[in-house]
Amino acid sequence: MSNKFAVITGASSGMGAEFARQLSNMGYELLLIARRRERLVELAGNLETKADIFVCDVAKEEDCDSILEYIGDRKVDIFLNNAGFGDCGNFTETDLDKDLNMIDVNVRALHYLMKGMLRKMEVYNDGYLLNIASSAGILPGGPYMATYYATKAYVRSISLAVNQELREANSNIYVGCLCPGPVNTEFSQNANVEFTLKGISAEYCVRYALQQMFKRKMIILPSATIKGVYMFNHICPLRLALRLTSRQQKKKLGR
Ligand SMILES: NC(=O)c1ccc[n+]([C@@H]2O[C@H](COP(=O)([O-])OP(=O)(O)OC[C@H]3O[C@@H](n4cnc5c(N)ncnc54)[C@H](OP(=O)(O)O)[C@@H]3O)[C@@H](O)[C@H]2O)c1
Repeated sequence: MSNKFAVITGASSGMGAEFARQLSNMGYELLLIARRRERLVELAGNLETKADIFVCDVAKEEDCDSILEYIGDRKVDIFLNNAGFGDCGNFTETDLDKDLNMIDVNVRALHYLMKGMLRKMEVYNDGYLLNIASSAGILPGGPYMATYYATKAYVRSISLAVNQELREANSNIYVGCLCPGPVNTEFSQNANVEFTLKGISAEYCVRYALQQMFKRKMIILPSATIKGVYMFNHICPLRLALRLTSRQQKKKLGR
């Protein structure tokens, strides 16, 4: 019998690389996707199981197509839609090209790959697809990180909607979203932010995420703080929520 197979976008660092290590320890064969070849080669060389690498830029539609083509009709047991990045600053001052690239990666590629992968999973009526959103996706908006929050709200929304569709179809396929707060990865460096809340480790976040995913939890909140934020958000007036989020974001900018 062939090994179980997992595919991870954004596998060259942070949570993606950690998903690779933990799934490999669980016996999964892997397909590791990102732009930085040398990182993927190094990671693949240190894993317990067979790991192929696929170097591409998911912001390009043709690259997303190539991923789906490369997988072909091989059964994918787990798909981690993880590639993503953020940016910080006043909406009118942040770089438009970076914003649009973020939308291409965090939204367009995630959407494209989600649809393509679910169509493959439907053939087997089996598979787990976890979208990596963020605590940014469970809040009404993120002043000074507006584009990033908006992309992650999209990820949360589409994950919940499709989860319900699958449930109503009595499907065995799982779709959920992971919504962490700060995790200690290369994210903050790429987004030009200093976390103001203490970050959790990628190792802990991924272990918790996999446990909850296998329990088919629709929204995964990997820390007590983020669970608190989620609950509070349900009772908090909108303007107050925006003010509180703004205050946190300004601290990240050192204001
Ligand atoms: N760290 C946090 O605090 C935090 C919190 C909540 C949610 N998240 C989300 O978690 C996910 C993983 O981020 P991380 O924290 O692990 O950050 P990270 O260490 O910066 O990893 C981001 C990964 O995404 C890949 N990536 C970015 N753009 C890509 C593109 N155009 N094509 C292919 N791959 C691309 C990067 O690979 P290459 O550069 O090699 O292409 C890298 O492997 C992201 O979706 C992020 O938004 C992070």
